[in-house]
Amino acid sequence: MVPGSLVLIGGEPGIGKSTLLLQVLAAVADSRKPVAYISGEESVSQVKLRAERLDVSGEGLFIFSETNVAAVLQYLQELLPKLVVIDSIQTMYLEDLAGSPGSLGQVRECTLRLMEWAKQNDVPVFMSGHVTKDGSIAGPGALEHIVDVVLYLEGEPFSAYRMLRGMKNRFGSTNEVGIFEMGQKGLTAVENPSLVFLSQCRDAAVGSVVVPTIEGSRPLLVEIQALTTPAGLGPPRRIANGIDFNRLLLISAVLTKRARLKLSNQDIIVNVTGGLRISEPAIDLGIASAIASSFWDSEPLPRLAVFGEVGLNGELRAVPQMERRVAEVVRLGFRSCLMPRMSSRPPLDNAGVQLIEAGSVAEALRLGLTERAKRE
Ligand code: TYD
Ligand code: MG
Repeated sequence: MVPGSLVLIGGEPGIGKSTLLLQVLAAVADSRKPVAYISGEESVSQVKLRAERLDVSGEGLFIFSETNVAAVLQYLQELLPKLVVIDSIQTMYLEDLAGSPGSLGQVRECTLRLMEWAKQNDVPVFMSGHVTKDGSIAGPGALEHIVDVVLYLEGEPFSAYRMLRGMKNRFGSTNEVGIFEMGQKGLTAVENPSLVFLSQCRDAAVGSVVVPTIEGSRPLLVEIQALTTPAGLGPPRRIANGIDFNRLLLISAVLTKRARLKLSNQDIIVNVTGGLRISEPAIDLGIASAIASSFWDSEPLPRLAVFGEVGLNGELRAVPQMERRVAEVVRLGFRSCLMPRMSSRPPLDNAGVQLIEAGSVAEALRLGLTERAKRE
C-alpha cells in the first residue's frame, strides 16, 4: 500500500468488496495508529455486526457512516488514520455540486477530493465501486484514469472463489491475482489454488481435460469440461462458461476443418470448473481436447495435462512460461503433459512427467486421447 495512493476496488454487488476491505483494515489496524472505515451503505451497527461475524477486533478501527464528502474529510482530518476505506464511492456526494450521488459528476468530483486528501496527508485510500452489467464503474473509464490503482474482485455468484485482479497500477505490475475463498469468516487466501480448481474426481473422464494456466504470475491447474450433443432443429448452439465465446467458435471451426470432427450438427457446451474465467490462448488445446473427447466418447490419457495455442491451420503454437506450467503439472503429480512441439525450446524440468509433443491439433488428439478415438 503506497502512502498517498488512491485505490479503486470494483466488483459486482455482493461479490465481497466490503468484506475484503473490512478485513484489510482490521489486519492493518493497531491501537496507536487508527484506521477508518467510511460506510455510505450500511449503518455503524451493521458494519459492527459484520466485523463481529468476521472475528475482527475493533482495536484502532473507527467506523463512520456518512455520505457527505465534506463531512468525511473533516472527520479524517481529525482522526488522521493511517488507512482509509470509502465504501462505496457511488454513495458519496458533495453538497455544492448538482446531481445525485452515483451520478458521473458526483462520483468524479468526490474521487478527486479524496485523491487530494490522500496526497496531502500521505495516506492510502481504498474506495469500493459497484460495477454495472457492462463492467464499467460509474460510466466507462470515468474513474479509472483518475485513481492510481484499479483492482477488480471477480467470481461466479454460485462459487465460493474470488479473484482479485490488477487492472491498472501506477506503482507496480498489474500482472498479479489474489485468489480467495469466501467462507464463514469472510475471505481467506487460497494457499494451493491448483488443488481447488480441479474437480474432486481426478480420474480420466470423457470430456474433461486439465490445463495448466497462468493467472497473473502464478500457474494454476484448471479443469475444462465439454459436452457435445446432437443439435435439434435450427442452428447448433454453442455455450461458453469461463472462456471466450469467439474462441470456442474458432476452435470448433478448426476441429471441423483440420481434425475432421463433424461438429456442424452438434450443440457444444464448454465449462471451466470452479467458476474461473480464463482468457489466455494457452488453454486452446485443452478446449479442443475436451470437445473431441466428448464427441468421440474417448477418455484423455490418465492423469494428463494439456496446453498450447491453436492456430487457424490447426497448428499448435508455443505459449509463454512453459517451464512454470510444466513445473505445476509435476508438482501435482500428473503423469503426462501434452504440449506444442517446437524446433527449439528451453529444457524443461519434467521429473516423472512424460512430455508428449504434437505439431497439430489432429496429432495432439491422436496422442492425447485413448484408443477409441483412433477408430473414428
Ligand atoms: P459484501 O462484502 O457485502 O459484498 P459487496 O460489498 O461487494 O457488495 O459480501 C456480501 C456477500 O458475502 C453476501 O452474499 C454474504 C457473503 N459473506 C460470506 O459468505 N461470509 C462472510 O463472512 C461475509 C461477511 C459475507
Ligand atoms: Mg458492500
